[in-house]
Amino acid sequence: MIVAEHLSKTFFLTRGEPIHAVRDVSFSVSGGEILGILGPNGAGKTTLLRMLATILTPSAGRCTVCGVCAEDNPQEARKHIGFLSGNTRLYGRLTGLEVLRYFGRLYGMKNGEIEQRAEHLINLLEMREFVDRRCDTLSTGQSQRVSIARVLVHDPPVLILDEPTLGLDIMSSRTILSFIRRAKERGHTILFSTHHMTEAELLCERIGLIHGGAILALDTQEALYKLTGTDNLQDAFLTLAGADPAVPS
Ligand SMILES: Nc1ncnc2c1ncn2[C@@H]1O[C@H](COP(=O)(O)OP(=O)(O)OP(=O)(O)O)[C@@H](O)[C@H]1O
Ligand SMILES: [Mg+2]
Repeated sequence: MIVAEHLSKTFFLTRGEPIHAVRDVSFSVSGGEILGILGPNGAGKTTLLRMLATILTPSAGRCTVCGVCAEDNPQEARKHIGFLSGNTRLYGRLTGLEVLRYFGRLYGMKNGEIEQRAEHLINLLEMREFVDRRCDTLSTGQSQRVSIARVLVHDPPVLILDEPTLGLDIMSSRTILSFIRRAKERGHTILFSTHHMTEAELLCERIGLIHGGAILALDTQEALYKLTGTDNLQDAFLTLAGADPAVPS
């Protein structure tokens, strides 16, 4: 379970005005649930997810993961989290399988356990064909699957995924989306960010619409449509952001 309470993050630059990247965001996500954070470029998605993944310290507010306060005990909180960040890089000289083994060992897993888990992830993310190839020879979609498998190797109950399908074609996106759906069915807590409206529509019961660092609304799709008098996420977002959905941008 993830709980965010009044989370804010302000970046102070050496020059210019401070940037209020995340403003007073509160929500919770339970086991067996997918919450999508949907918003345009610069809305604050990555900053929000990085705070929840204990990578960034909030300027205000707090978050807990599986009952552990991320700020007081980040090491403990991290054991429960698989965080896919937008800029995860793989070691080019290792094969996908070697990456999984390496991270399994970092998490203190036993060899037998690592092999079993790797086998499971290779099947789940359809990686068989390329898992023995060096990572610097993989395509974007193949690398992304290895990156996802890497953050899941210790089977964390909480998945925080920052734009997991960014730059992927529909086949690779489908593999990843169906993986996320299966993780939910297995009781995982999933928070993921996207700027793809259809992806959020397909996957999430509840969606948080974020703009300028603030959550404009966070509810089920039906409730968001009712609130805005619209019938799709794009129009709901535009209405809440104060733009007229009838005018093409
Ligand atoms: N380390 C940083 N220092 C200063 N400003 C930052 C930093 N990280 C993010 N920002 C600013 O905070 C705001 C939110 O950025 P963030 O990366 O969270 O947005 P995003 O919703 O993930 O966007 P995108 O869809 O482009 O990935 C932006 O104005 C960005 O320029
Ligand atoms: Mg981002």
